[in-house]
Amino acid sequence: MLPSLYAEYEPRPHVIGILGGGQLAKMLSQEVFKIGMRTAIIEHGEDSPAGMMTSLSWGDGWNDREALDAFIEASDIITLENEFIAPEILQYIAEKRPVFPLSETIALVQDKFTQKETMQNAGIAITPFGACQEIEDVHAFGEKYGYPFVMKTRTLGYDGYGNATIRSASDIEHAWNAFRDPEAPREIMCEAFVHFTKELAVMVARNRRGEIAVYPCVETIQENHICRYVLAPARVDEEIATKAKEMAKRCIEAISGIGVFGIEMFLTKDGEVLFNEIAPRPHNSGHYTIEACYTSQFENGIRAILNLPLGSPEMKVPAAVMVNLLGTRSGPGMPDSPVDTLKHPHTIVHLYGKKECRKGRKMGHLTTCGPSLEEAAKEAYSAASSWIW
Ligand SMILES: Nc1ncnc2c1ncn2[C@@H]1O[C@H](COP(=O)(O)OP(=O)(O)O)[C@@H](O)[C@H]1O
Ligand SMILES: [Mg+2]
Repeated sequence: MLPSLYAEYEPRPHVIGILGGGQLAKMLSQEVFKIGMRTAIIEHGEDSPAGMMTSLSWGDGWNDREALDAFIEASDIITLENEFIAPEILQYIAEKRPVFPLSETIALVQDKFTQKETMQNAGIAITPFGACQEIEDVHAFGEKYGYPFVMKTRTLGYDGYGNATIRSASDIEHAWNAFRDPEAPREIMCEAFVHFTKELAVMVARNRRGEIAVYPCVETIQENHICRYVLAPARVDEEIATKAKEMAKRCIEAISGIGVFGIEMFLTKDGEVLFNEIAPRPHNSGHYTIEACYTSQFENGIRAILNLPLGSPEMKVPAAVMVNLLGTRSGPGMPDSPVDTLKHPHTIVHLYGKKECRKGRKMGHLTTCGPSLEEAAKEAYSAASSWIW
């Protein structure tokens, strides 16, 4: 199943192509340059955060065949920061260059229903879910599993776009019509509501020899369905953290994952860990690894696709808190002033260099390391609240 081209450490590719040029591609690129290689970037739009870092940059997107061919030609090996790439395009690329994660993995993951079916078949605990072809199927789901429940678009959902909480039967029609816009109707699925006590996440990197690095179990805090804070390690018993890490490892194996993956889970009050979703790429819940772990998720992601030995995913500090810096207005992508934020001595600020700021858009993040979660959180919240965007 695996291409043999780079089965051993050598020959070493020199140009890593990345599909997508946003902040994840930017932080991946930083690791690529660190090990003496360079990147090629293709994105819909010029001057993307990662596109700005390399002269091998195409702004016409992967649906433009000419741009795509030039990008492929420039790249020795290709990875992605965005799983929403049409399977036929990934297939086209994979015929010309090694692509990791494998296109088969992406096909299983990019549809949330197929993804959950795959995990369920692998014996992974998950809240009841079902695909809905007709609006009647949604009503039937509510009758069977009760209200509230969550209606989701099967594809193209992120940061909560594509999710609706259905509190009663009278909410169904509005949500259905919003997702079934005749211009671009989306396939729908429903999930029983999980009354979780915490949301957990674990990053996993796996190389082509099957070596695995499982990161610590962290706690993610969402506001309006968008990740706002990550606490590392999670405030859970060792037994729960181990359960989450084991689930994450099994998820990667279930999809023959090669690269780096983020696994989101729910913790219930009974101590049950339920799978939520998997991202076949670096993940927001793993940004803390840049400052807090021996090897960051981005570095291990690059090592994994190159089939290099993986670095330790262990934390090198007792605790870290990551805060997303979200846009509060429409305007230029550079902040008015980072000065007050930079006055926090154990806090590192990452600005993505996006051209435009929009309300709620992820414009950057900061990570504070500390001797305890309490102390790290105190400084991180102070730093984040001094942020002006
Ligand atoms: N079945 C569910 N029960 C309760 N909350 C949910 C459920 N599914 C999603 N959520 C909430 O919505 C957030 C975003 O949903 P998710 O499916 O992870 O979509 P996205 O692709 O936008 O990250 C989750 O992190 C969680 O807070
Ligand atoms: Mg999610």
